[in-house]
Amino acid sequence: MDKLELSYEDALIPKDQILETAEKLRPEIRNMRNAISRGYDDDRASINLPDDDEMLSTVKSVIEEKLTLEPEYLIVIGIGGSNLGTIAIQEAILGKLYNLLAPPIKVLYADTVDSSLIGNIIRIVEPTLRRDGNILLNVVSKSGITTETIADFRILLDLLRKYKKEYRDYIVATCNRDSKLWSLALNEGFTALEIPLKVGGRYSVFSPVGLFPLGLLGIRIEDLLKGAKEMREACIDMELERNPAAIIASIQFAHYKEGKNISDLFFFSTDLESMGKWCRQLIAESLGKEFSRDGRRVNVGITPTVSVGSTDLHSVAQLYLGGPYDKLISFISIRKPGPHLYVPRMDGYSDLVPGIDGRSLEEIMSAILEGTKEAFRKDKRPFIEISLPDKSECSIGQFMQLKMIETMYLGHLLNVNPFDQPDVEKYKREDRRILRG
Ligand code: PA5
Repeated sequence: MDKLELSYEDALIPKDQILETAEKLRPEIRNMRNAISRGYDDDRASINLPDDDEMLSTVKSVIEEKLTLEPEYLIVIGIGGSNLGTIAIQEAILGKLYNLLAPPIKVLYADTVDSSLIGNIIRIVEPTLRRDGNILLNVVSKSGITTETIADFRILLDLLRKYKKEYRDYIVATCNRDSKLWSLALNEGFTALEIPLKVGGRYSVFSPVGLFPLGLLGIRIEDLLKGAKEMREACIDMELERNPAAIIASIQFAHYKEGKNISDLFFFSTDLESMGKWCRQLIAESLGKEFSRDGRRVNVGITPTVSVGSTDLHSVAQLYLGGPYDKLISFISIRKPGPHLYVPRMDGYSDLVPGIDGRSLEEIMSAILEGTKEAFRKDKRPFIEISLPDKSECSIGQFMQLKMIETMYLGHLLNVNPFDQPDVEKYKREDRRILRG
């Protein structure tokens, strides 16, 4: 398997300082090693998802069963940790323009309670239902009581019921076994897939949350898990220099200590923009905390931002290269990007942009990336580089597992609990109170 590569020569933190910080992670790496094979009892439970053959085979058999219905649309209803990972992987592997490429099953995401969004989803799928075609609803909510998810689900369920007598067959609910949604799914006769209790939303992409919809769309979910597992092994290596999660977390922490509290993930791949949104939630929700593990008010956090190369060089580069020294940039690129497309030679066009005649788009992109890095270097702006071999399932599995373990390590260094989200719960409680009247 080709591997993800990390380079940090331009991190502007001396190597001995990185390794000294990484030393502080040893107890947490040990905890991580101990958590492996312990099933789902530990807060770090998500790292065991790639080993769960029973879960994989359950998901595969539900996929097989639902494919027999020949759905034309899959609607994933969920928000935050319940859909961001799915969107990230779908777009990374199948492309942002997937639905326009006439795939056998198109995918739509119902996340927030935006009437235009949900109205348009209905406009898109209703003609299919009207001519007796099929759609699948996958309602995903770990708690089973998220306002937006349940409101959207009820509207789409109502639509489905109008057209299908056997509507129950077209619904898959993914949630905790002890949630009200689970009981409702069983009572109603929907298929239910379990999210293990200790697997938090933002760490749940390798559970049925991501595996069911992605597998249904034809993504090789075994390979995703294989990539994740391989990366997990690297990220629990006690030889710290070989442990990419420990190295990145230590660099990020060292910069944070010096006042650089913005982490920009700069993806040189349009299809990875949503991966950026997944990372943003992971970092923000895991590390932005009011209290430390020992109960002191600390108000810590790293602010994640997402940029796409080269598009956002025409948007944020001025700020990044001229503004405050408050960021660590991670340039993320793909070594084997995609089809080779060349700029054709044409009489009279060479003077517009000299040097691009006959060049492939990947050569041009790579020149832009090199130029960008050089500008950062000259300006003494810190960055690290992550390169993925390609956008295959294995590579994407590696990247996401790296980011999840790196975030857990950062939680340890910042002395906060990276697995809870007490302040998100605050708003959820409040909105339920307002709606109850
Ligand atoms: O990561 C998290 O825990 C949150 O972002 C949740 O995923 C999000 O709030 C949705 O919650 P639920 O899956 O319970 O509907």
